[in-house]
Amino acid sequence: MTAFLTRPLSVDAQAFVGPGLPVRVFEAARPPSFEELVRGAEGAHTLLTLVSDPITAAVLDALPTVRHVAQVAVGYDNVDVEACRARGVLVTHTPGVLTDATADLTFALLLAVARRVREGAALLRGGHFHGWGPTMLLGMELRDRVLGIYGFGRIGQAVARRAAGFGMRVVYCSRSDGPPELGARVDFATLLRASDVVSLHAPATPETRHAFDAAALSAMKPGAILINTARGPLVEEAALAYALQEGPLFGAGLDVYEDEPAVHPSLILRDDVVLLPHLGSATEAARRRMAETALTDALCVFEGRAAKHVVPELLDDA
Ligand code: GLV
Repeated sequence: MTAFLTRPLSVDAQAFVGPGLPVRVFEAARPPSFEELVRGAEGAHTLLTLVSDPITAAVLDALPTVRHVAQVAVGYDNVDVEACRARGVLVTHTPGVLTDATADLTFALLLAVARRVREGAALLRGGHFHGWGPTMLLGMELRDRVLGIYGFGRIGQAVARRAAGFGMRVVYCSRSDGPPELGARVDFATLLRASDVVSLHAPATPETRHAFDAAALSAMKPGAILINTARGPLVEEAALAYALQEGPLFGAGLDVYEDEPAVHPSLILRDDVVLLPHLGSATEAARRRMAETALTDALCVFEGRAAKHVVPELLDDA
């Protein structure tokens, strides 16, 4: 049995799993194309995949020896789980280990937008800082503001805990109740209407796709901020560009995009938008734990033991 890894990780995968499970690595600094994946993974039992690798029915059909897709991420919308189920392919992911990293980055983006960090840094580097100014780049103070969290799983709840430290009030919209001390559960319309900041923490599914379309964005509170560190397709990016241009939003902070790595061109030009290149889990500790979690499950399956992080949709089958 062999494993195929679609990009070098921050952990030496071969050293971690040991010589019993040979790991072939696609060494480029970009995702493999369909052909490169199929050629590189030929005969492999395990695919170690990243968010940028579409694992479709066509990939699975071209790689009939694959029995396990070990996704090195918590989100796995790039994997066709139903196609995996139909072919008896196990899918695992890495929940829990990147919660704090992603919640931290959410606040990095929120503070950058609220306090106009991008504009301030550009002003200074452009040689336009001529001394303290009483009206220079005034931003939004977070204390007593309402933070609306869309999706209240591990990451949404970790964001709520941080928000308490900033004196924010939390409401959230979710399919189920969260711990009552973290905030009040509200419906989507109330979340949009009541929140000074809306932060997205739901997975990309057919139900959440374009939840933030033109209608939702125009129902947001005037002067509100939108933060997305979850998945790009939750937001209709063209509608957000339009809403920022025409409407009264304060700004937006985005780490993920509808058609990654492409970004809507008008968002790139805007001063009130802070854009990051999908860095939510990009800390050394989180990326190490993600790699180790996925590789540990790969080893479990290789050694005939049960994998620990099977995706919820397949739990009944596992
Ligand atoms: C990163 O985006 C992840 O889902 O882990």
